[in-house]
Order: sequence, then structure tokens, then C-alpha cells
Amino acid sequence: MKIGILNGGGDCAGLNAVTRGAVRAAEDAGDSVVAIRRGWAGLLEKDASPITYSDFEMLIGEGGTALGTSRTNPLKREHGLEVVSQNIRSLGLDALIAVGGDDTLGVARELSLAGEKVIGVPKTIDNDLAGTDYSFGFFTAVDEAMRMIESLATTGRSHSRTMIVEVMGRDAGWISLYAGSAAGANMVLIPEFRTGADDVIKLLEERKKAGKRSSVIVVAEGVSFVQREGVEKDEFDHELIAKAPGESNASYLARLIEERTGLETRATVLGHTIRGTRPNAYDRIMSIRLGARAAAAAHGGRFGVMVAIRGAGIEEVPLTEGTKKKFVDEETWKSLRIFFS
Ligand code: F6P
Repeated sequence: MKIGILNGGGDCAGLNAVTRGAVRAAEDAGDSVVAIRRGWAGLLEKDASPITYSDFEMLIGEGGTALGTSRTNPLKREHGLEVVSQNIRSLGLDALIAVGGDDTLGVARELSLAGEKVIGVPKTIDNDLAGTDYSFGFFTAVDEAMRMIESLATTGRSHSRTMIVEVMGRDAGWISLYAGSAAGANMVLIPEFRTGADDVIKLLEERKKAGKRSSVIVVAEGVSFVQREGVEKDEFDHELIAKAPGESNASYLARLIEERTGLETRATVLGHTIRGTRPNAYDRIMSIRLGARAAAAAHGGRFGVMVAIRGAGIEEVPLTEGTKKKFVDEETWKSLRIFFS
């Protein structure tokens, strides 16, 4: 059996380990693996080449993806899905493993519905995919963000400053909440549960009164401050300090805090730094297991599924699960927000 494998969407620690796991299991079962380069772009352009275990043996700890990735979406191209199907045929692929987030798995689902033999592996640092307890790469991103928040807290304490740290997470606040809470941040703002800029100001004023000279506030990239209730407005109903177009959440909050409280404040956007790092031990182990399980599903003829982390194990669940979103739930939020102070 010839199995194709591709990575789609933003890169994430553990992608190379997934490929390593898939190639190992495939070769052990007598199958071969073809690397599709740059996600769905590689299937549209037939950019593919055979890979072996020895190509990936040493890459278990490498960040990024040796296969390359892209945000190319065949569903947005005229006859894109048909071209992909034709190329699956002409490359002689008997199965395809698509490693990606909801966008990539959405294409995988459509291909599967069209009769292609597809298996998904859910991937996103954001951890916002349903059907899997966690997505690989998430805990590595959390570890990295936590270390950087701690380091910002240290310099903040030295200078008696308020440090605002913005952390990736397009729609969900998982990384911010976990990393911020693990680093002992004084408050974390996430898109799922609204906390106003005025709540931040209130907390900082209280801390100032209590003689605390330094604070750390973590804000998720996905938080929207537009038209937030409670922000002071002028007589024309404009926010007194408006968020400038394209301005980061961190820089907006820092400006607001300095203006309202006089506290010296610095803003940092962690951005892609938490994404390109080397996978931690958990992500390495789960990634090689996920890759191997996906290849085993292909060998066993179990298609239209995605391999998901459930508890300490891996299960095959319907591919459609990977296209649903998972947001921070109330119980998790409540259990961690009690530490905001
Ligand atoms: O892959 C998820 C993610 O890292 C989000 O957290 C972030 O909003 C987005 O990707 C950034 O995408 P890009 O790398 O295309 O700028």
C-alpha cells in the first residue's frame, strides 16, 4: 500500500514526529510513504516524493515541518477537489493522511465524502479542535509561553512595571489561560469569557494600593476590545482610548493602563515564537503514536476517521469531529480564574 501524508495550516511542534511515527508503522506493515509538500498545494501541483524512516529517524525533536505546509484550500479553487482526486490517482496513492486543523480536516472530510481514502490527524497549537482531548503541539506552546511570561515577570519585578503579554490563539484562549495560569499571571483575558479592560485597571489599582509594584497580565490574541462595555466614552460615544487599526491587544492595553493608572507598563507579543519551538516529551510521544496509529488505520482500511488523544490513549473517531471547534469551558475557566489577583 502507498500512503501519502501532508501537513496543512500553521506549523506546530510534533509534526515531524507524526511523520516519523507514520513512516515507521507503514514500513513495519510493508507499506510505503509519499510526502506531499506544502499541504494541499502539493496535491494540487503534484509536488510529492517518497520518504523513508531513515529520513525522519533523527527528526523526533525538530520543530516545524520537513514536509512544508501552506494554507492553500482546494475548496476555494475551481475544480480543486477534482484535481486533488486526480492527483491522488496519478501518484498511485492508496490512502492519504492529512495532518492539520479544522481547515485542513474540512478538506479531508470533503474528500472522504467524495470517496477518497483519507485519515486525519488533528493538529493545532490552539487546542481548539473538538473530538480530541488535546492536540499535539499545544503543551509545547504552553511550556514555551509560560517560560517567556515568567521571564517577563522577572524583569517586570526588577523595574516595578506592569507587563502585558499577548499570546497566540486565534479563536480560543487555551494557550493563554494555561500558560498564564502556569506562570502565575495576575489576570488572563480570553475570548470565551469576557473580562473588560476596566477589570484589568481595577485589579491593577487594587494591587497598587496593596503595595504590589509589579503585575503580569496575559491577553489572548483572539480577545476583541472593540466596543467593549465599560470603557470610557467621550460625548460622541468614542472610546477615550481607541484601539488603533492593526494595533496588538498588548500594546492597546499597555497604553490604556499607563494613561489611566500612571503605572509604567510594557507590552510584548509572543507571536510565532511559541510555535516554532522543539516539541516537549509529551508531544513527541503522542505525535509518534498518532502518526503510527494513522498509518495502522490506513493499513487496516479504516478511512474517514481521525486519530484522537483520549485520556492517555489514542482512539479513532469520525473525521467530522475534527471540523468542530472546542472552546475553554466554564468549569476550566472558573477553576483557574480564582487565582487572578
Ligand atoms: O495555527 C494557529 C495559529 O498559530 C493561531 O494561533 C494564529 O492566530 C495563526 O495560526 C497565525 O497564522 P499565521 O502563521 O498564518 O500568521
